[in-house]
Formats: sequence, C-alpha cells, structure tokens
Amino acid sequence: MPAYSEKVMEYFMNPRNVGEIPDADGIGEVGNPVCGDMMTFYVKVDGDRLADVKFKTFGCGAAIAVSSMVSEMAKGKTLEEAMQITNKDVAQELGGLPPNKYHCSNLGADALHKAIEDYLQKAGKESPQV
Ligand code: FES
Repeated sequence: MPAYSEKVMEYFMNPRNVGEIPDADGIGEVGNPVCGDMMTFYVKVDGDRLADVKFKTFGCGAAIAVSSMVSEMAKGKTLEEAMQITNKDVAQELGGLPPNKYHCSNLGADALHKAIEDYLQKAGKESPQV
C-alpha cells in the first residue's frame, strides 16, 4: 500500500468540483494508455477568468485527488495564471505522491491546460504565453 499524504486521502474521499459543466466553454481530455485512466476537465470562462472548473475522472485514487486539487487551484484564476499551474505544483499542494503515482499527477494540469486551449481555440484567441 503506497503511503499517501493525509491531503491526498482527504481529496480522494471528498473530491471537490466533480461533475460536468453542460455548457462548458472548453473541454480537455487526457488519458494514460498504461493504466487506462481518463480525466476530463470542463471550464467556464468569464472575461479572462475561470468562473467554474469541474472534472470527471475515471481513475485511481491519486488521479481523483489530483483532479480535485487542480480544479480548486484553478477556479477564479485568470487563464494565464491557470496555464502556469504545473503538475509539480499540484503534487506539492497534495503533500507529495508516492513515486509510482507520479504519472497520475501528470494528468491533472495537462487536462486543465487542454480545456483552456480548447476554449481559446473556439474563441479564436491566442494561447497566453507562459
Ligand atoms: Fe493511472 Fe493513477 S494509476 S492515473
């Protein structure tokens, strides 16, 4: 049993922002071909800020905790700030992850960034320089 931090357990047991945004402005989906886990992020944009962020993750506990943390970190941020959230930041916020679970944390920020890029593309805007 890998040693999870209390924060990982807490975010896994009580995930924040789970669900779909039916009229999302951007959607980002990533998957890991090895474990087969999938993560989808939905963003709602107001001006240049993320008014709402939700996710659906079919994956392990660490992946759920990671998506939950990413959604909380991103909500209310500007698109530019959200694009600067790295997978490492997320793992750090969670108090670290066991080494064999690093790949799980690599999905979180990627899915968020994809959702933002999807929005920018649909809106015909340039991706913010990060
Ligand atoms: Fe694949 Fe966690 S085991 S995302």
